[in-house]
Amino acid sequence: MKLQYIFSRCFKIENPNLKPKKVVRKLSSSPRFSLLDLSSSTLSEDLSISLAGSYLHVFTLQELKMITQNFSSSNFLGEGGFGPVHKGFIDDKIRPGLKAQPVAVKLLDLDGSQGHREWLTEVVFLGQLRHPHLVKLIGYCCEEEHRLLVYEYMPRGSLENQLYRRYSISLPWSTRMKIAIGAAKGLDFLHEAENPVIYRDFKASNILLDSNYSPKLSDFGLAKDGPEGDDTHVSTRIMGTHGYAAPEYIMTGHLTTASDVYSFGVVLLELLTGRKSVDKNRPHREQNLVEWAKPIIKNPRKLLSRLMDPRLEGQYPEMGAQKAAALAYQCLSHSPKLRPKMSDVIKVLEPLKDLEDSIQIGTFLFSVLGDGDLERDSEKKGSGNGYHKRRREIQESRIKSPKSRVIYSKNSLNENLRKRLDNGLK
Ligand SMILES: Nc1ncnc2c1ncn2[C@@H]1O[C@H](COP(=O)(O)OP(=O)(O)OP(=O)(O)O)[C@@H](O)[C@H]1O
Ligand SMILES: [Mg+2]
Repeated sequence: MKLQYIFSRCFKIENPNLKPKKVVRKLSSSPRFSLLDLSSSTLSEDLSISLAGSYLHVFTLQELKMITQNFSSSNFLGEGGFGPVHKGFIDDKIRPGLKAQPVAVKLLDLDGSQGHREWLTEVVFLGQLRHPHLVKLIGYCCEEEHRLLVYEYMPRGSLENQLYRRYSISLPWSTRMKIAIGAAKGLDFLHEAENPVIYRDFKASNILLDSNYSPKLSDFGLAKDGPEGDDTHVSTRIMGTHGYAAPEYIMTGHLTTASDVYSFGVVLLELLTGRKSVDKNRPHREQNLVEWAKPIIKNPRKLLSRLMDPRLEGQYPEMGAQKAAALAYQCLSHSPKLRPKMSDVIKVLEPLKDLEDSIQIGTFLFSVLGDGDLERDSEKKGSGNGYHKRRREIQESRIKSPKSRVIYSKNSLNENLRKRLDNGLK
């Protein structure tokens, strides 16, 4: 799959007279194509850098309408800042060679808080990165102002759904550790890549779970290439989600892989405590999870049981919980330099998954009742106030920054996109 092909399709529809720009900057010699490379070469006709294989499929809007039954409410999976997500089913009737499988189709909401930039970032990063703990992008659609993404379907939805939905089953200790370890491996893969990637939006709602609760990171719309050469950080606009973003990044705009490690610490705390990173429904002092949890972990006289999720009903190894809590504390160090690397995090977590000292392994505890699909049904669009409340919560939790403009009008498409690409997508 040539990048040229992706963008030529977006452009072709709009302005066939637009002359491709010559490559003015030397392209990276590394195998992964970066957004900076893209800024100067996207329009080049002789662009020959591939998106690591030819596995991305280009769908038409009509095809995606067909596979989601016209984005019907019965196929609705949920909605975030990007737009609604619907379940669909693809097979080789749509495109020869396509593996028959369920998919999740994400549709950019043209009035939403995200835009073309996030879509493009997602295609460029996920189109090139493949790992068992990153969600697989199967393809995309770029037709006029429409922007869609087609992913492998993750039957258990997000970790956020699993941890906090009222009718969800309570995840046992071993599953929580499995999720933490898998997600840590996904982050470690990004950080240790030849061209490191900073994920920037690590949070419970972006960790998707397959039928065996194996986690995969999704949503690369805010991802950034890591610093190059002697640089220690990337300076960038402050974006992300309240309750997860590292304090030094919020204060200075300096982004490093250590910012992701901080966010990992927050998610680890969520797994241990069953509490949301920010919960406005709790007493004032308990609303921010990190502020509430750190003094408990630090003070040896305070009981660990105060910290742990009551839905675990004490079914966890005490030593393991202590080690995991101490690790979360380290990830949440105020100084980024004191935070561990993700490879160290994995080393600490791996042995904790199978610790059994005080736990009876195996049973899932139902707080009310439900299985994966039942849970999802309760969130369907229009099935009550929950849907609207969730949308409001997502908008409020986003760290505000100037909205990346979606390109609305047909005529402005090429010009706007070109300007943005020229500006290095800043
Ligand atoms: N590949 C997928 N398979 C199954 N469900 C998915 C998939 N991708 C997203 N979803 C579901 O769609 C819903 C919306 O996901 P989305 O990533 O758009 O928003 P979010 O992560 O909740 O919020 P944010 O915009 O802050 O990332 C979630 O409930 C998620 O479980
Ligand atoms: Mg998400």
